[in-house]
Amino acid sequence: MPDYLDEVRETCIAGGDEGELASYIPELAAADPDRLAIALCTIDGTVYAVGDAEHRFTIQSLSKPFAYALALADRGLDEVLEHVSVEPSGDAFNEISIDREGRPRNPMINIGAITTHALVGDAEATAEESTARVIAGLSAFAGRELEVDEAVYASERESADRNMALAYMVRAQGKLQDAPRAAVDGYTRQCSVLVDVRDLAVMAMTLASSGRNPVTGEQVVPAWVCRQVLSVMATCGMYDAAGDWMSNVGIPAKSGVSGGVLGALPGQVGIGVFSPRLDGFGNSVRGVRACERLSRDMGLHLM
Ligand code: DON
Repeated sequence: MPDYLDEVRETCIAGGDEGELASYIPELAAADPDRLAIALCTIDGTVYAVGDAEHRFTIQSLSKPFAYALALADRGLDEVLEHVSVEPSGDAFNEISIDREGRPRNPMINIGAITTHALVGDAEATAEESTARVIAGLSAFAGRELEVDEAVYASERESADRNMALAYMVRAQGKLQDAPRAAVDGYTRQCSVLVDVRDLAVMAMTLASSGRNPVTGEQVVPAWVCRQVLSVMATCGMYDAAGDWMSNVGIPAKSGVSGGVLGALPGQVGIGVFSPRLDGFGNSVRGVRACERLSRDMGLHLM
């Protein structure tokens, strides 16, 4: 398996170096654009990783499906659906995408993820308690204690005007539980959690294993939660490239602006890829390329 993954990695590099680093968060613009790491986690918890597998990067939007899972586990489907819908937005990840009922269109775009962050914990949870539960929950999905990159957090918090505007919009619709500043601060901490590709593969495999972490054996969230999360990843996880991704790669997935991509194929495999150059949709160019190869070679397409 490592030889095969090395070969996939080489092919992805040979495929070209197009794409741009995210520049709107100053700390992310300083990333090494040439890094490429690929990891797979199987259902028995075996992890294979190649390339810059030790390199840690901030999880960014890859945290969104897991925060959504925690909110569902804590509040139940009906309450979460009252606040955040599950329809693809067809817009960019940082757009004001709200439906007729005033709900963010889905939990995978920023406006929905800020709203979802505030739903983690019970109805009385403070903003700080929600954030602590999100970070503990992400750690349970990864099977190790994850930390926040304080420099990235500070950098993004300073440039979070757009997310603040989104939070005020949801608050005005009566759908945001916390004060906008507290919700955006907590969501930004969630995005600043450090992971490597092994973590992503294990986190993805936990979703693909009905909520049971294949390495630690912990049941992190109930099985029904994973069905909901994977369904929303399949339709909304790759932003406005989601349709192209689903027909081409066919794996429920999520991308993030630091260059991570994770894929979760129920009962089969968790995939984590990291490569910082992004395409026009905000998806990692080489990350998408690697997943296309893996899907084709291993017959992972759901259909
Ligand atoms: O809120 C933001 O803009 C970032 N913390 C996360 C965005 C992100 O990863 C979008 N992904 N492509």
